[in-house]
Amino acid sequence: MKKYLKWRNTWSLGIDAIDLHHQQIAVMFNNIVEIYLDSTKQAAETDQQSCLMHRLLVEFNEKVRKHFCDEEELMQQANYPGRIEHAREHLMLLAELKHYLKNIEDELDLINLNTLKSLKAWFISHIMNSDKKFAEHLHMQSNNTQYNMCHIPEKQRNAV
Ligand SMILES: [Fe+2]
Repeated sequence: MKKYLKWRNTWSLGIDAIDLHHQQIAVMFNNIVEIYLDSTKQAAETDQQSCLMHRLLVEFNEKVRKHFCDEEELMQQANYPGRIEHAREHLMLLAELKHYLKNIEDELDLINLNTLKSLKAWFISHIMNSDKKFAEHLHMQSNNTQYNMCHIPEKQRNAV
């Protein structure tokens, strides 16, 4: 699929820690796409591929969940008025990811191209709309630099 989640500068929110998370999420997503593409080159997915896919999805899920927690904490600190609605979008995606994982664990369904496309579309749309709105709010606050660097522990900022 040529539509990998390739980072674009227009997605940048100007909040270092969050931008880094988004870039890390894009890298993890691309790894999942690569495994998916490899598996489509054969008649059937090997056990090794499905194990790897499952592991990558578990890690992806965990990374996204932590990232959402950090974003929501920043929203709370910044007293962002749209935080409940924004957090609801996060919850919906987490429920979707949980559903994909459960299906894979129950061997009901494997990840497919439509799932990957819809995940990709969700992330771009969420960053460009909801996250950008929040970033605008944060930037309007005069002391926003304290959110920029201090909140998220360094270990977590750099971990993929
Ligand atoms: Fe968000």
